[in-house]
Amino acid sequence: MKQADLIWMNGELVAWEDAKVHVLTHALHYGTGVFEGVRAYDTPRGTAIFRHTEHIDRLFASAGMYYMDIPFSKEEIRAATHETIVRNGLRSCYIRPLVFRGAGPMGLYPLDCPVDVTIAVWEWGAYLGDEGKQRGVRGKVSSWRRISSDSVIPLAKATGQYLNSVLAKVEADKAGYEEAILLDDRGMVCEGSGENLFVIRDGVIVTPTYASDVLGGISRLSAIQIARDLGYEVVPRDIARGELYLADEVFMTGTAAELTPLREIDDRPVGDGRPGPITLDVQREFEDALHGRSERYADWLDLVQTPSAAPAPTT
Ligand SMILES: Cc1ncc(COP(=O)(O)O)c(C=O)c1O
Repeated sequence: MKQADLIWMNGELVAWEDAKVHVLTHALHYGTGVFEGVRAYDTPRGTAIFRHTEHIDRLFASAGMYYMDIPFSKEEIRAATHETIVRNGLRSCYIRPLVFRGAGPMGLYPLDCPVDVTIAVWEWGAYLGDEGKQRGVRGKVSSWRRISSDSVIPLAKATGQYLNSVLAKVEADKAGYEEAILLDDRGMVCEGSGENLFVIRDGVIVTPTYASDVLGGISRLSAIQIARDLGYEVVPRDIARGELYLADEVFMTGTAAELTPLREIDDRPVGDGRPGPITLDVQREFEDALHGRSERYADWLDLVQTPSAAPAPTT
């Protein structure tokens, strides 16, 4: 992670070091925030944000589910994101919009606290590593189950809910694995600590549904569409844990991790222990879409208007 110069806070760009909050910020105590993870890529048509509209829509949906009215319009958030990228002089970056209950009356009732909004950007490589994207990573089924709709709203990307992912991630890391795979509360395969999951057997791609309390991943939907456009059968359904061990191929999708294959799960090789042909096929097309090399998915990119060079003097 490489620090940028400026962070957007409630309508203003402030120096990275000055983007601070009060210790009585409600979200610090009770996890009352929602956020997004978005990426902008350096494409042949300039800097472009992948599926920006969908990310902004999910941010507003997450906020709404937790009773937060965002004091900016979707178009204002989009424009602020563009400005933050341009003013930081970045051609590609990770983008982290955050909406949270700010400093106000303490106690669990949040509705009298302000709703604050920040947008940070920074240069960030592949979350599970470039080598992981090429060779695949090692995953472990977590002892922690994915949060369920019984107690929170798994479809919301809410800050407090990420304690669940943090527990799973640390457990996997301490055990020597790159990523955790969480089961849902019924024991069905759910997702990674920050990625959705796809399992391939006999040429058919399966992926857990919202009924497994997955996050509605935007990369997940993109990968489903790409795979179907490539002619593969994609079946959203419940997946038993044992199917992970029978799989020919398994891969994960997420904005941070992009499309990363799994080469081993619970100390068993996935297939022959190398990314398989379907994974590589979908990954190639997915990378082309991200980096603006695909005509077919060109409308998934929100082009950032970088200031054009000053016109040459005419006299
Ligand atoms: C728990 C969880 N699941 C799945 C995903 C993948 O979602 P997306 O593809 O929208 O980044 C993320 C990342 O946002 C996540 O945090």
